[in-house]
Amino acid sequence: MQAVVISGSGLYTPPESISNEELVVAFNAFVDLHNAEHAAAIEAGDMEALTYSDAAFIEKASGIKSRHVVNKSGILDPKVMHPLIRTRSNDEPSLLAEMAVDAAKQAMTMAGKTADQIDAVLAGCSNMPRAYPSLAVEVQEYLGIDGWAYDLNVACASAAFGLQAAIDSVRNGSARCVLMVNPEICSGHLNFRDRDSHFIFGDAATAVIIERAEDATSEIQFEVLGTKLKTKFSNNIRNNFGFLNRAEAEDPRTSSDVLFVQEGRKVFKEVVPMVSQMLVEHLQELGLQPKQAKRFWLHQANLSMNQLISKRVLGREATSEEAPVILDEYANTSSAGSVIAFHKFSADMAPGEVGVLSAFGAGYSAGSVVLRRI
Ligand code: COA
Repeated sequence: MQAVVISGSGLYTPPESISNEELVVAFNAFVDLHNAEHAAAIEAGDMEALTYSDAAFIEKASGIKSRHVVNKSGILDPKVMHPLIRTRSNDEPSLLAEMAVDAAKQAMTMAGKTADQIDAVLAGCSNMPRAYPSLAVEVQEYLGIDGWAYDLNVACASAAFGLQAAIDSVRNGSARCVLMVNPEICSGHLNFRDRDSHFIFGDAATAVIIERAEDATSEIQFEVLGTKLKTKFSNNIRNNFGFLNRAEAEDPRTSSDVLFVQEGRKVFKEVVPMVSQMLVEHLQELGLQPKQAKRFWLHQANLSMNQLISKRVLGREATSEEAPVILDEYANTSSAGSVIAFHKFSADMAPGEVGVLSAFGAGYSAGSVVLRRI
C-alpha cells in the first residue's frame, strides 16, 4: 500500500462579510415589518408576535462574531433576506465551481502540482448547485484535469469523508494525486427569518491535494496515519430541499420547508459524545495517546461544542493553539470549516508533530483524519 500525504491546501473567502450587529438590525427590521403586517391576527391571539434577535446572545451562544457571504445586500434587506445570486447560463461556471477553482489553484500551487499531474477531483459539500452534471466534473473541466471526478454529500462532515475517499484511492493505486474541494454557499440554505438559527452559517470554499508520498515536493507535507468515519441517522439537523418536494417550496430561497432546520440543544448533547469517543478510539487504534496530538482542526459549528470535544479527548481544556478557532470570523461554513482551520493553522507545526482533522454534522456523520507533519 502506498504512503499518502496531504501536500497542499487552499481557501477562498468571499469579499463581503456581515457582523452580528448588521445581521440583527436586518432581522429586527423584518420582525417589525412582519408584526405590523399581521397586527390584527396578533391582536386577536391567532398569531404570535415575532421577537427580536440579539447580537450579544449570538456571540455568547455560538462564538460567532461575523460571517463572509457571497451576497450581503440581499441577506440584509428585510424584504428579501436571502443572497441575491444571478442565475448563470449553462456556458458559465456555477458560483460553487468558481469558488472551488479559486481554492483549488492555491492548493495546487502550494503542492507544486499542475493539472496534468492530478488524476481525480472530489467535491464534498452540503449543497450542490444542481442535480447533474456533477459539480466535481465541472471543477475538473475548468481546471483542465484529465481523469475522473464525483460529488459526495455528507453535510458538514463531507471533508473528512472526501479525504478518506481520496486517501483510499491513492493508497490503492486508482489515483496518484487527488484534488478535494469543499465549496459552501451556506447562506443559500439558511433561513434568515428564523431567530434560532439565522446567525449560524457563512460561505467559503476550501481545497486539499492528496498524493503519493513518493511524488510529493511541497515544503509542507502531512503524512496520513489513518482515517475513521461514523454515521448514525438523526432528524435533528435536516434540510428537505429536493426535486420531490418542490410543491411545498413556492420560493425555495425563503420557504422554511426546504431550508436548514435543527434542534440545536439535542445536536449539542448527542454529537459531542459521538465525536469525542470516536477521536479517542481512533488515536488508540493508531497507538497514540490523546496528549500526543498537538493540534485539533475541528469542524467549526459552535465554540462551546468544540471546546467540550477537545476537553473530553485531552482530559483538560485545550488551548487556542491546540484547537484553533476560525468560527468567530467565518461562522459555520459546513464542510469547509475543519479545512479552513487546517489551512490557517498547520504551517507552524514541527516535523513529527501529530494533528487530528475532524468534521461532524448532519446525518449524524463524523470523521477523523490523523496526520503527522513530515
Ligand atoms: N437572539 C436572542 N435570543 C435568542 C435567539 C436570538 N437570535 N435565539 C434564541 N434565543 C433565546 C431563546 O428564545 C431561549 O430563550 P428562553 O431561555 O427564554 O426560552 C434562549 O435564547 C436559549 O435558546 P436555545 O436555542 O436553547 O440556545 P442555545 O444556548 O442552545 O444556543 C445554538 C443555540 C444553536 C447556538 C446551540 O444550541 C448550538 O450551537 N448547538 C449546536 C448546533 C450545531 O452545531 N449544529 C450543527 C449544524 S451543522
